[in-house]
Amino acid sequence: MSKFMDWIDARFPATKMWEDHLSKYYAPKNFNFLYFFGSLALLVLVNQIVTGVWLTMSFTPSAEEAFASVEYIMRDVEYGWILRYLHSTGASAFFIVVYLHMFRGLLYGSYQKPRELVWLFGMLIYLALMAEAFMGYLLPWGQMSYWGAQVIISLFGAIPVIGDELTQWIRGDYLISGITLNRFFALHVVALPIVILGLVVLHILALHEVGSNNPDGVDIKKKKDENGIPLDGIPFHPYYTVKDIVGVVVFLFVFCAVVFFFPEMGGYFLEKPNFEQANAFKTPEHIAPVWYFTPFYAILRAVPDKLMGVIAMGAAIAVLFVLPWLDRSPVRSMRYKGWISKLFLLVFCVAFVILGVLGVLAPTPGRTLLSQVCTVLYFAYFLLMPFYTRLEKTKPVPERVTG
Ligand code: HEM
Repeated sequence: MSKFMDWIDARFPATKMWEDHLSKYYAPKNFNFLYFFGSLALLVLVNQIVTGVWLTMSFTPSAEEAFASVEYIMRDVEYGWILRYLHSTGASAFFIVVYLHMFRGLLYGSYQKPRELVWLFGMLIYLALMAEAFMGYLLPWGQMSYWGAQVIISLFGAIPVIGDELTQWIRGDYLISGITLNRFFALHVVALPIVILGLVVLHILALHEVGSNNPDGVDIKKKKDENGIPLDGIPFHPYYTVKDIVGVVVFLFVFCAVVFFFPEMGGYFLEKPNFEQANAFKTPEHIAPVWYFTPFYAILRAVPDKLMGVIAMGAAIAVLFVLPWLDRSPVRSMRYKGWISKLFLLVFCVAFVILGVLGVLAPTPGRTLLSQVCTVLYFAYFLLMPFYTRLEKTKPVPERVTG
């Protein structure tokens, strides 16, 4: 075995990569359960790719046959139903995991220097993931696939001068048609997965260059032993590979419960109108995107003007990109920040959830007002951050990690 590895290592840095990223990658010893979500995101990504490849084997990307081919997968293809439910539930699981992963970043200031690029690559993944989910949702060619895509693509029409041309260019037709379905299929199945995989590699390379943050936000590289190993660091393998198994087991337990018993999740993971084939002559009564887009959809609807709404929605995502430069706090972790930061993060999370709920519901004057308040609170978290993080009193950060 060792001779074989010597042969490989003389030609390919296998052992070096194993050591750099696993057995000699020293991670802080105080990771908590919020650190499970990075490895869980990897797990869900693999699930999406594997089930996606198998779905592709039986799916037909044409307006005439797409809907029926999904029904064929559900009824006739052996284990087709489980492949589809693993993939559709996997899409929602991906966003749950990624939102919690991002929340961990906000909580412990993981985006702060020197991890700005880790955050930026993460945000690019998030953007690509939204595009991937949006395009995937058109493929089953149900009523919500069709009309959801219709609403979102028509938003580009609000852009002055080029708007109409741009929407036509995206659709490849004067209306959403089989041509749109075909190009979304190509992007969903080939182009975007490659982009996402590439970005995930860059995300992890950037992280391993600077080292992981931790719930205390303490830089473990500042205190090293005589061999240059951080005193508060433990090798990722075997310690965290084994610890992550706990997260994987708990996750799979919940995930399988949903796949086997609630795959539609009351219409939130698979929306009811999508059990009816797309019909360009029949608009569903109420069009709502899947839950993971609804906070941004609520921001869009909160603004009365269409163009301004599109700008607000874009800004809500864009502002996350500049987060590392908005936080001026001398400390990273929420544990040592002042009460204003804690309050703002809490209000931001509550506003985000309320926006998510409002985005699913049909608008009423009261709900629109509430979504306007929540939109202001959403942006306040970011735009006031340079001020409250500088002005508030922080607690002293310990020299070594706690716990
Ligand atoms: C496919 C999606 C993603 C995958 C597979 C992924 C994977 C990972 C992994 C394996 C880690 C190291 C383990 C951990 O710290 O949990 C990590 C860390 C990190 N990720 Fe992601 N990630 C994804 C998306 C994102 C997104 C959308 C963001 C934010 C915009 C983000 C921000 C971060 C940050 C800031 C860290 C460092 C955390 C720390 O050291 O405290 N990631 N990611």
